[in-house]
Amino acid sequence: MHQIADWLEKLGMSEYARLFAENRIDFSVLPDLTDQDLEKLGVVLGDRRKMLRAIANLDDKSPGVAPEPVLSSAQSTTALTAAAKAVGERRYLTVMFCDLVGSTSISAQLDAEEWRDLVGAYLDAASAAVTEMGGYVAKKLGDGLMALFGYPVAQENDAERAARAALSIQRALAEVNRKNAAAGKPALNARIGIEIGPVVIDAAGEIYGDPPNVSARVQALAEPGTVVVTARVQRQIAGLFVAEERGSHELKGVPEPLTLYRLVRASGGGRRAGQRHLTALIGREEEIAMLMRRWERARQGDGQLVLIVGEPGLGKSRLIEEFHARLREAAHTWVEWSCLQLLQNTPLHPIAEWGRQRFGGPDVPAERQRADLENSLAQVKLDPAENVPLLAPLLDIPLPKERALTLAPEELRRRQLAALTAWLMAGARSQPIVLALEDLHWADPTTLEVLRGIAERGALVPLFVLATARPEFRAPWGMRSHHGTISLAPLDRTQVRDMVAELSARHALSKEVVEDVAVRTGGVPLFVEEVTRLLLERGEQGGTQAIPPTLQQSLTARLDRLGSAREVAQIGAVVGRDFSYYLLREIAGIGDAPLQSALEKLADADILLVQGLPPASDYRFKHALIQDAAYENLLKSRRQALHRRAGEVLRDQFATAAAAEPELLAHHFTQAGLTEAAIEWWGTAGQRSLARSALVEAGEQLKRALDQIATLPATPALRREEIKLEVAFANALALTGDLVGGKEHYDRALAIYDPAEHRLLTTRSGRDVGVTLLSFRSSCVWQLGYPAASRNDAERAVKNARETGHPTTLMYALNRAAISYTFCGDYTAAHAQIDELIALADEKGKALGTLVRGRLFSLTGNAADAVRAITSGITSLRSTGATLYEPWHLWHLAMAYTELGQPEDARRCLDDAIEKVARSNEKWCEAEVHRIAGEIALKSPQPEAAKAETYFERALSIARQQQAKSWELRAAMSMARLWRSQGKSQQARELLAPVYTWFTEGFDTLDLKEANALLAELA
Ligand SMILES: Nc1ncnc2c1ncn2[C@@H]1O[C@H](COP(=O)(O)OP(=O)(O)O)[C@@H](O)[C@H]1O
Ligand SMILES: [Mg+2]
Repeated sequence: MHQIADWLEKLGMSEYARLFAENRIDFSVLPDLTDQDLEKLGVVLGDRRKMLRAIANLDDKSPGVAPEPVLSSAQSTTALTAAAKAVGERRYLTVMFCDLVGSTSISAQLDAEEWRDLVGAYLDAASAAVTEMGGYVAKKLGDGLMALFGYPVAQENDAERAARAALSIQRALAEVNRKNAAAGKPALNARIGIEIGPVVIDAAGEIYGDPPNVSARVQALAEPGTVVVTARVQRQIAGLFVAEERGSHELKGVPEPLTLYRLVRASGGGRRAGQRHLTALIGREEEIAMLMRRWERARQGDGQLVLIVGEPGLGKSRLIEEFHARLREAAHTWVEWSCLQLLQNTPLHPIAEWGRQRFGGPDVPAERQRADLENSLAQVKLDPAENVPLLAPLLDIPLPKERALTLAPEELRRRQLAALTAWLMAGARSQPIVLALEDLHWADPTTLEVLRGIAERGALVPLFVLATARPEFRAPWGMRSHHGTISLAPLDRTQVRDMVAELSARHALSKEVVEDVAVRTGGVPLFVEEVTRLLLERGEQGGTQAIPPTLQQSLTARLDRLGSAREVAQIGAVVGRDFSYYLLREIAGIGDAPLQSALEKLADADILLVQGLPPASDYRFKHALIQDAAYENLLKSRRQALHRRAGEVLRDQFATAAAAEPELLAHHFTQAGLTEAAIEWWGTAGQRSLARSALVEAGEQLKRALDQIATLPATPALRREEIKLEVAFANALALTGDLVGGKEHYDRALAIYDPAEHRLLTTRSGRDVGVTLLSFRSSCVWQLGYPAASRNDAERAVKNARETGHPTTLMYALNRAAISYTFCGDYTAAHAQIDELIALADEKGKALGTLVRGRLFSLTGNAADAVRAITSGITSLRSTGATLYEPWHLWHLAMAYTELGQPEDARRCLDDAIEKVARSNEKWCEAEVHRIAGEIALKSPQPEAAKAETYFERALSIARQQQAKSWELRAAMSMARLWRSQGKSQQARELLAPVYTWFTEGFDTLDLKEANALLAELA
């Protein structure tokens, strides 16, 4: 910031220094500043010009290259990370708060210096406990201490570490007190509270967010000498500690009461000991079959080793459990060595842990444990006298001093390891052994050395080594013929569906939600479980988008492990689930070498999938959860900057991609808070979707454009944009059958439309907007049951169109007027419009005219001409790529074919029409197409009354649902005629009469006249 101040000073504009600092404008954003930005900040015109010139000069150093990257011009990702760190980040953090009880009264009794020493000893002990567990002491406030777990680097078990540190502080304090009591000093008691949650941490390490406050308040509620955690923390560590529920508490500054738990001690159990119950196994048949085959061979004396590789949660441990269950009564010895993240630097910890389990640990007297060991050794014909002193220390079995070996440490280790291997081999010879090695990526170096020996020498005994590891693990042993690897694949869609169904049991989740789970989780079973659970807890609305808190830590830890490549993952996360190398490079502004190495690292860590050879590669986040986690860690301000950069790069350098996916740019500009650009691109996206008959998408995109407009103060330019967008949006609504919504937005557009001011405003296809608006509304209101209003709009449209003197506009108005007149049954007027249209028209206009005329022919008994006109019209329209309104043409064609006695052709056209309505969502004509299908069923050589009735029923229900009164009237007439022919006149009357009497206008139009006559006949 100082640098910016200097720069401003050089320009003689120091008065803006404060303003720039407050708006967090530093050198990295200078090149992105626009004149409008500066104007918004309140910089006056002359100064704006000077500043922009000075900014342009900054760029002079690198002529011809892209604008300064958002991050920095540095060529290394390390510098990038530093740049990111300099602004801060979002994190999911475990915060521990520890405070002394009644310290003022104790300090009052003591000399100041004595007090200082006392508190100093306590603080040292507490800090040591925190640091030992990988925590970070953020603050010491007098006799209080705040520690963070998950910063600067997250681990997947931050909450567990915090809890262990807290218990160890209490133990250490008890120890300090014991010593002090002897010296006659007063006892100190501490309270500890722990909370976990999202925070923002700035460059200086300052934390913003609730967890510090909550942990302090939880601490205040704890009994002296105890550790209390919130339910959120308890959920992360369930199964690992003995915990007592402490009821629910209101905390100051926290909206909802929190359930608190007191931690008593570590339980010695693993996560698996927790309350979770297993989901039925899905898939994995091949893997299990492979394991069973290998096991058979091992059993025969052909030792085997299988390494199961997969990212966290893919089901490595589960596969081992399943295999274990399938061994059933087969004679075997099961030995499990599990490597723990917390102990990865403790030599041989998996073996010591197994030793405690196997020989009973501290609860069993030492002699008994030694006897047990001696016995086991003797059984496999190993000399206990020689081996017990070597093995007991590895297995955490106490040895009397006199039996301890006095060898040089290295020699001792060598012999111990040899004894361990020999014991295993001998054991296997007496009964086949399955050695399950869990999580080798956390193995300490000494354990790895033991394993190397076993891997290389296990081929000659009945030993089945079954190991699991994450993809980053590199086995320190060479591949042998008796080694095998299983690379676990994610579950496929069907399997995810089965798993979700299983998990959600009675709650039927919708197909879309299940699909969403499959996409977000990338088929990782653990993620499927957690996302589904969250979904069931929060309901479908709140659930699918959030990251389950249970996964927060492990996802963040995975990203933190990437070091500087994390930054690239974050930039990628902003760009999207998929991105190309070139796009990412432009947005990130990172050189090829560091970028490629970062991407390679991400692919190695199974975070990104790669397609194609670098540099022309495409990347995709393996699952959306990790993408979301990367995105979540970014400060909002940084996300904005990156979105802006992404939008601009796409717009300026990837024009083809931008044109193909305008909604992507719209998304970036929206997230960047660049409202004008967002409006423009949502509008482009919506219009493009409309043109491609993607009506539902069009509606959503146009709505987003309008929503964005609503956030800005009205200006004449925005007003113009708004009118166009309203018309397009209304069209999208009306075409998809939301006639009421359509009319509302036509009306709104008309309300803003000022003929004097907007006279020159045209649509994208170059027509006058006012005329277009009236023409569309004319069709819409006719369908809603207002034939007179429809006619009125059509007439106004043609009249206004003539006044514009603009042929395209006039042709359009004539075409739409012909449609409205046809709806109203005024075929003469319709013909007149078409005559005039065809006289004026270009190719496309002629095709449109031909179609309207063809439809008219089919309505007026001129079937042969209708077939000719409509087929030729459809052919020429299709050549222009337009597919809108096809169902409409098709059913008229079907009517003509019926007339000509070609039922096969008629059926084909109708089926096609119905199918197209469903596919394109062009639902405005759905009722009518069904009615016509019914009419045609009645006209076939063997009339099918039941079928027709079903069609009419459907037409009626659709029309009612859309409030399309004119279609409802037609459907009711068709049904009434059918019923009358079946002698059910009264029923027919009861159906038709209320629909007819609903109408308030248009009694001179064909439908209403016919309905009136029909009712008279039914009376
Ligand atoms: N094939 C499967 N079918 C059903 N549940 C599974 C399957 N694979 C894994 N799970 C469940 O997913 C979670 C994570 O599996 P786990 O074996 O612990 O993963 P890993 O050891 O690879 O980290 C566990 O709750 C497990 O029961
Ligand atoms: Mg596991």
